[in-house]
Amino acid sequence: MILVTGGAGFIGSNFVLDWLAQSDETVINLDALTYAGNRENLNSLDGNSRHVFVEGNIGDSKLVTKLLEQYQPRAVINFAAESHVDRSIHGPEDFIQTNIVGTFHLLESVRAYWSALPVDAKQDFRFLHVSTDEVYGSLSKDAPAFTETNRYEPNSPYSASKAASDHLVRSYHHTYGLPVLTTNCSNNYGPFHFPEKLIPLMIVNALAGKSLPVYGDGQQIRDWLYVKDHCSAIRRVLEAGKLGEVYNVGGWNEKPNIDIVHTVCALLDEARPRADGKSYREQIITVTDRPGHDRRYAIDASKIERELGWKPAETFDTGIRKTVNWYLENQQWVANVQSGSYRDWVAKNYSERNA
Ligand code: NAD
Ligand code: DAU
Repeated sequence: MILVTGGAGFIGSNFVLDWLAQSDETVINLDALTYAGNRENLNSLDGNSRHVFVEGNIGDSKLVTKLLEQYQPRAVINFAAESHVDRSIHGPEDFIQTNIVGTFHLLESVRAYWSALPVDAKQDFRFLHVSTDEVYGSLSKDAPAFTETNRYEPNSPYSASKAASDHLVRSYHHTYGLPVLTTNCSNNYGPFHFPEKLIPLMIVNALAGKSLPVYGDGQQIRDWLYVKDHCSAIRRVLEAGKLGEVYNVGGWNEKPNIDIVHTVCALLDEARPRADGKSYREQIITVTDRPGHDRRYAIDASKIERELGWKPAETFDTGIRKTVNWYLENQQWVANVQSGSYRDWVAKNYSERNA
């Protein structure tokens, strides 16, 4: 039995689906169902007795303690977070509450549970914290990719809150001996990605005939990994990672944003040509840049490859095709997430940028 937090979000739901398809173990899925949490991502698990969904907050110590005692998981995997940089710029408070205070309360609940376990179960227990490459800050054009020993230099309220949570997790290992593992991954893409993030936003806007808003000069570089490869890395770290260690996860796949947008347009031109015969590229516009926008992220994934033998299964070419096809085939999912609050966010974020 494992306890997953944030398992109704983008990466968490992919993880839960893959886990249940590949193992016999039950998953307790604790998710607060914020705007980013979506039960529909888990529809295919309806009636599956190995998936126990619990709506609740990682900061609710009473609830978390009850779940730990009731289900006695051998591992906790913490995906729950506020995850969108732009939202953290508009309103950092939720990021502090969930990513820092929430992680702290979760760690406290887990520490109490773990401390009371019998010796064998105590040794086998794992707390795996899912984090991001953004904690390392921004790279210059020719700097080497981030390794696990890079200094933390977070630049947004989001990345600062994730950095703080990473430090808390680290401290619980060093101080209390809690058996923790941390992964720092680069940008994910794939099914169930909420369409406020670059790739799904571009697909969804293109198909709706809306503009494709590129921040600043579009030359910011991100390092893209297909979400299922991130999930396989987490499974591998859980299985074989060395306690207290950090593993960077990435696909050696650096691309400027504008290239990503061009690729999405080209795939849609092929799969769903515009009625007027023109390219979706016609819809690209430049908008005001993100404040404090990090210029480049790049992950050096040598350690996880060398020590744990993990490698991504998808190239960017295969992963992005799967992703575009998934959005074409799941337009009802897209329509359902574009609720009132989604529209409010889009209006707020992009009206300011078009000035
Ligand atoms: P997401 O925003 O899609 O999902 C987050 C999930 O956490 C949602 O289901 C939400 O309801 C839930 N949640 C939020 N606050 C909660 C709380 N207080 N208690 C319980 N549940 C809560 O995020 P994601 O993109 O799936 O990211 C998951 C994790 O991976 C995050 O920790 C993020 O920092 C990290 N990460 C994301 C990426 C990426 O590219 N998306 C890359 C590297 C690391
Ligand atoms: O690097 C890992 C991180 O990747 C994760 O920790 C975060 O949770 C995840 O959201 C993601 O952060 P980014 O800020 O890199 O992702 P986002 O999709 O918001 O933006 C990707 C790039 O695209 C970034 O340089 C900003 C740019 N962008 C984004 C949007 C939404 C645009 O140019 N236009 C847009 O409309």
